[in-house]
Amino acid sequence: MQKPLIAGNWKMNMVINQGVDLVMRLRELIKGIDAVEVVIAPPFTSIHHLSHLVADSPIKLCGQNLFWEKSGAYTGEVSAEMLAAAGCRYVIVGHSERREYFKETDEAVNKKVIAALKGNLKPIICVGETLAEREKGKTLTKVRSQVKKALAGLAGSVVKDITIAYEPIWAIGTGKNATPQEAEEVHNALREHLFEMFGPDAVKDLRIVYGGSVKPDNIDDLMAQPNIDGALVGGASLKADDFARIVKFQHIA
Ligand code: PGA
Repeated sequence: MQKPLIAGNWKMNMVINQGVDLVMRLRELIKGIDAVEVVIAPPFTSIHHLSHLVADSPIKLCGQNLFWEKSGAYTGEVSAEMLAAAGCRYVIVGHSERREYFKETDEAVNKKVIAALKGNLKPIICVGETLAEREKGKTLTKVRSQVKKALAGLAGSVVKDITIAYEPIWAIGTGKNATPQEAEEVHNALREHLFEMFGPDAVKDLRIVYGGSVKPDNIDDLMAQPNIDGALVGGASLKADDFARIVKFQHIA
């Protein structure tokens, strides 16, 4: 099994200087941490600048989105190759905000996942249900279908480079997180689904992380669940102390 992954999604926050301050402080706070993979996803405009600051630290960089073409007349888009050249090792794909505001479909997510892997980026693929879907008992059907479509056509050999982020939409930015048991139930179901899709060998190194109002005061209980392999953190990743505390969750603190 790979190390747990704690990823901070800065979303559309932090101009370059603010990002520099945050990374400098974070570097100090998590110095020497080796048991966790620490990833941050700043806005595109800061990535290259920050790549110099994280070079000799455990922090790895991640894009928040990409386009599936390599280059060309696609105004406003960024390719996997561009992100990798700017210093990224990871990229978030199919975040619910992109699905909602930018109308990203499962088919687009699949193309982006394939492009990311071809471009040497490890995709963090987001799936999750709305409150209405949860209340109708449709959570597992929804997330299984999102995962299946996102990974369509992929060989088992590349699955180890993929992370799934289970992010219930009703928990993102709302302060309402899924209970550790609710999250565990979905993670367990997703792991079984991936096992059926790709077989045991391919899936043993695949991480399933939880996202949605992860904070210093709930990370320990979430990470105590057997099928939660890390976290995708939004709001709390903008505060160095909070994010560092999340990185140092109970097991290793
Ligand atoms: P949040 O965001 O931690 O602010 O809820 C999580 C996410 O959108 O990845």
